[in-house]
Formats: sequence, C-alpha cells, structure tokens
Amino acid sequence: MPQVKFFVNGKQRTVSADPNTPLLWVLRESLGLTGTKYGCGQGLCGACTVHVNGEATRSCVTTLDLAEGKRVVTIEGLASNVQNPLLRAWIAEEVSQCGYCQPGQILSAAALLARKPNPSDSEIDEAMAANLCRCGTYPRIRRAIHRTTQEGGRR
Ligand code: FES
Ligand code: FES
Repeated sequence: MPQVKFFVNGKQRTVSADPNTPLLWVLRESLGLTGTKYGCGQGLCGACTVHVNGEATRSCVTTLDLAEGKRVVTIEGLASNVQNPLLRAWIAEEVSQCGYCQPGQILSAAALLARKPNPSDSEIDEAMAANLCRCGTYPRIRRAIHRTTQEGGRR
C-alpha cells in the first residue's frame, strides 16, 4: 500500500492505504478519530466536515491522496482547546440536541468565523446551509455564532 503523509490536529501522520480511500474512513478507522460522523456519504449533509488547510471540507467525498501534505483539523483538534470561544458559545447556547451533526456544524462555523469574523444572519445561513440538522438546531447555531463574535470582542 502506498504511504500518505499529512498533518492531523497538528501532528504528522503517515497512513498506508489506497489513495482513493475517503478521508472520513481514514480518520475514523485508521486514526480512531470518531468525532467526524458519517451521514450521507455523498457530500450532501455536512456531518463529515473537517478542515483541510483551513477550508471546511466534506471528508466523505475527499480522497486520502487529496490530503497529502495538508493540515487536517477534526473536532478532536478543535475541542482540545477548552477555552475555544466557539465551543464555549456552543455550550452556553445549549445548541446540541442528539449531537450527531454537531461536529460538522462546529467545523463549518469555525471556518466561517476564520474568513468572516462578524457574519450577518444571512451570511451565517448561507455558510451553514449545507450542514443539515434533523433536530432543527439552526436558531441556536446562529445564536452561538453571534455569541462567539460578541465574547471574542470582550476578551
Ligand atoms: S457524510 Fe459527508 S456530506 Fe454527508
Ligand atoms: S443535533 Fe441532532 S441532527 Fe443535529
């Protein structure tokens, strides 16, 4: 099997696998990072969202070879900083219901805030539209993103 090297949550990892393997399975099965969820497997629901070089990326439709040499961040990496203002806002707004979609929601929200530090409601809705939530947590997600920008301004 060919070896693919890339960075996951700041650490270099080397994986021996078919380069066409979806990144989602490499993260979950090879690296044990099960915070990233499988939903549709077709790039349609956002449950599998991670960051690849800072971009929100659907890991179910991203093959391992596309991650070669890149920086991947999963929910485990983001959550390693308990002071992360986005996570604190998520908890304060009690966003999560069943929780299944939430890692992908948080990674998409983090990517939005990195490129747009104070997004409007419509910018939030547009950026988060492809992350589906069967529990309907959308209003709380929007509040948590606004809260992050407010808390960030106070620090
Ligand atoms: S599982 Fe990847 S977008 Fe649905
Ligand atoms: S919190 Fe249940 S699917 Fe989103």
